Amino acid sequence: GLISKAARIHEEKIVPLIQVSNPKTSSEGEFLLPIKPLIDIGVLPPDSVESGTAQDTIANLTNRISCQHPVLKAVSNKYGIQFSVDQALLIKSVLSKEQEDREQYGRRSDLFGVRKGEKVVVEYSSPNIAKPFHAGHLRSTIMGNFIAKLHHALGNKVVRINYLGDWGVQFGLLAVGFQLFGSEEALQTNPIQHLFEVYVKVNQAAEEDEDIHRQAREFFRLLEHRDPTALALWTRFRDLSIEEYSRIYKRLGVQFDEYSGESMYSYRSQQVISQLREAGLLQITERGTGVVDLSEDNSMSFYSTVTRSDGTSLYITRDIAAAVDRYERFKFDRMYYVVDKSQEDHFRQLFKTLEKMGYTWADRCHHIKFGRVQGMKTRRGEVVLLEDILNEAQRQMLDNMQQAATTKHMDNPEEVAETVGITAVLAQDFRGKILSDYKFDWNRALQSKGDTGVFLQYTHARLCSLERESGMLVPDSCDPALLQEQQALQLLQQIAGFDQAVHKAWTELEPRHILSYNLQLSHLVAAAHKSLKVKGSPKDVAEARLLLFHAARVTLANGMDLLCMTPVDRM
Ligand code: ARG
Repeated sequence: GLISKAARIHEEKIVPLIQVSNPKTSSEGEFLLPIKPLIDIGVLPPDSVESGTAQDTIANLTNRISCQHPVLKAVSNKYGIQFSVDQALLIKSVLSKEQEDREQYGRRSDLFGVRKGEKVVVEYSSPNIAKPFHAGHLRSTIMGNFIAKLHHALGNKVVRINYLGDWGVQFGLLAVGFQLFGSEEALQTNPIQHLFEVYVKVNQAAEEDEDIHRQAREFFRLLEHRDPTALALWTRFRDLSIEEYSRIYKRLGVQFDEYSGESMYSYRSQQVISQLREAGLLQITERGTGVVDLSEDNSMSFYSTVTRSDGTSLYITRDIAAAVDRYERFKFDRMYYVVDKSQEDHFRQLFKTLEKMGYTWADRCHHIKFGRVQGMKTRRGEVVLLEDILNEAQRQMLDNMQQAATTKHMDNPEEVAETVGITAVLAQDFRGKILSDYKFDWNRALQSKGDTGVFLQYTHARLCSLERESGMLVPDSCDPALLQEQQALQLLQQIAGFDQAVHKAWTELEPRHILSYNLQLSHLVAAAHKSLKVKGSPKDVAEARLLLFHAARVTLANGMDLLCMTPVDRM
């Protein structure tokens, strides 16, 4: 019910009250919180509820709850605290244009103590050039985009970074491979796929020909020493790949403020190594590698290896340099690395090493780890390119749509199929806890009924068509007395609960709270749509309902937007 949601967002003290209590619903929209559990957990003195202190505590409590959630009325008596929803206030707060800018439905972050203006760095997607863009990268892309959008919507300043895997001996191999198997034309038209193919071929060839490895190491050595010819070729690989990545990210509605990458930190990671040495943190092992001892913390693997025996840097060394650079540039309040859970140890070591180096901001860095996706396949087999997933989503959605009569009247079915297909993929991904693994299933994702992205899109399109076909303008406000049906009130309460869903998603960094909110909203819209006719009703009733459906649509659209879904007007 509304009360448990409302109460959960308030000061911690109230949380256990709500959890132990078993609120009775006395009538629709009224809740009674029994006093006994409050005594049991020590909030109220055990002797008597008649005593002044008990009455004061209750008064205090009810006051706080109703202040923070003004649509609740709270009255205390000796049996409990009676909450009821003030319907007129609820309707006013949800449906009045003056009181609330429609675009702001569900974005009143001021309610939640979000510190506006905080600087938040979100690093996500971060694929490796010339290697497969696997389902893990897709998850990072959409989860990271969600986290960035959510923080932005709540008033934080967000910096979005894509940290490319664009450095290492594999670029030597790639360069040698390009001389052997590359095509200038394919590189221009299809860089990501072409570089991947070249990489696969050269790896095969290198198995038989040790000289390829030697040449690759030589090329990479030149690259590390900034040899202009080597650098020029590498720069083209990187630039053309980024160009194509951005085009594909655009289809997903994903953006970055900067494309960074490991390459930018090969030089600075040498400074990190000196710094570690000077601080007495670097130890050289018998095999000649350089390590940092992290053993004081037992949950860590013993050492973090930061140099190879030849003195060159590793993945973690570059990450140290990158973190320091980002802090110097952005002075972030928080930094999120959205990377699958297999890199958990890596990030623990990274944060611990930063802490040992004396960076007090190390505790502002967080690894947002997520589970694996199994079985993401397309017609071409296991996913290698992000583009394949998007194409497959579009193709399958278009197939489904072609069976529906309404598609014939559509002027842009391909575009709609793409948007809805991508929504379906996103919704499937956002369904569970982010740390859980899940099995990807095209059929389940693309179903039009049930808890899918297609259902959300369908609901949005239906609400748009209701507005279009009403032939009326959405009014600014309405008489609350005209919206007393059960379906109307339930829908209103759901709309009013958007803030809580957003807040929950924000505290837990779990998109599923917004997804399930949206799905529930859509189910309530379906029920209301059936019984609350707009067309054919008396004008004032029709207008009140139109306003209600409009508020539902705007809220749904805002919720979808946070999940990076673009709502369609027709489908
Ligand atoms: N490129 C890496 C990979 O695909 C992910 C990078 C994660 N970010 C980081 N700062 N290490 O596995």
